[in-house]
Amino acid sequence: MSADGSGTPKQYRKATNLVHGGTERTEWQETSEALILTSGYVYDSAEQAEARMAGDIPGYVYSRYNNPTVAMLEERLRLLEGAESCRAMASGMGAMNAILTAPLQKGDRVVGASALFGSCRWLLANQLPKYGVETEFVDGMDLEAWEKALSRPAKLVLVESPANPLLDAVDIRVVAELAHKAGAQLIVDNAFASPIMQSPFELGADWVFYSATKHMDGGGRVLAGAILGPKKDMEEIIDPFIRHSGPSISPFNAWVILKGLESLEVRVERQTQTAETLADAMAAHPAIRELRYPGRKDHPHYDVHSRQMKGGGSLIALSLEGGKPAAFRFLNELNLVSISNNLGDAKSLACHPATTTHRALSPEERASMGLDDSWVRFSVGLEDADDLTDDVLNALDKAAG
Ligand SMILES: Cc1ncc(COP(=O)(O)O)c(C=O)c1O
Repeated sequence: MSADGSGTPKQYRKATNLVHGGTERTEWQETSEALILTSGYVYDSAEQAEARMAGDIPGYVYSRYNNPTVAMLEERLRLLEGAESCRAMASGMGAMNAILTAPLQKGDRVVGASALFGSCRWLLANQLPKYGVETEFVDGMDLEAWEKALSRPAKLVLVESPANPLLDAVDIRVVAELAHKAGAQLIVDNAFASPIMQSPFELGADWVFYSATKHMDGGGRVLAGAILGPKKDMEEIIDPFIRHSGPSISPFNAWVILKGLESLEVRVERQTQTAETLADAMAAHPAIRELRYPGRKDHPHYDVHSRQMKGGGSLIALSLEGGKPAAFRFLNELNLVSISNNLGDAKSLACHPATTTHRALSPEERASMGLDDSWVRFSVGLEDADDLTDDVLNALDKAAG
């Protein structure tokens, strides 16, 4: 990024950072970010290899540690969020595993919101206890339950807002304060909101997590994940874990995400506009038992979402009268919208969370987040809003019939 002549790098806004942030040109002065597809790097001498490996001089050593294309992505995301540091990883879950595994040891406590993406909840419920870590889940909107759970010391708190799949909210500012009093760091999974709709660091989060597979890619091409947080913890706790356990992202996938970021703001804003239109068009349909969209006043957590988010985002959750058979009929009758458990794509996608994204959870665990078989999760893409409206209303008519 250019300097203003005073030697101080100029601070740019989100849209500019999304296009230029972190770009480092090679000697060829390419316009588009270079894809440096290499696993290793060469040294001028054995002494230089020793010094680079020891960190005494700068330079790349091995792409499990870092890579110039990956470094551009990390710097772009860091500038976008205003974070001290960022690390990109091979998938969202690779990044989640790093932030959950690296800092914890036997005897530590982790408190999570009940409503989490299935694999995140699975890690807390099934994997961490194997290491002697105590985990507890709290209804994300129940402040008394948070107070109670965080009246005892804890190491980490994990929340999603809006959460997968029913778009529940968590009051990030209040939970951050309670977490800090308990000695814990707060991790916010911001995958559903995307950096365009919500900035968790401004609300008190210590760590922000992304599945970059979603809106950041935006074209459903690659898996990727990222964590952003304090520089000291990143270097002392997370980096050794990444280097020695290998969740590193391929430079190719990092390059795809870099290019995806260029259009992130335009895409998410358009997807949000279309989602508002679609949610309004579907809400009154007799086939719908309940529709949840963070931007609508009838969402039970609208007050919290509207304080934290710039707009409602690209996801809608709908519960159908008639339960699973009606939900399946609705999915099967969609023509333009595809059935898929991905989200944030240019193509509109819909899925049945109880049998896909949250299938690894027990019926009791699903019930604790209010998820029954009647729910469909809908990810709004970039198609024409009227074409989408026709498709969903036709499918709802058929689901009702
Ligand atoms: C909220 C949330 N967190 C984490 C993940 C995991 O990300 P990935 O699929 O990139 O591993 C997902 C994926 O659906 C998600 O929806």
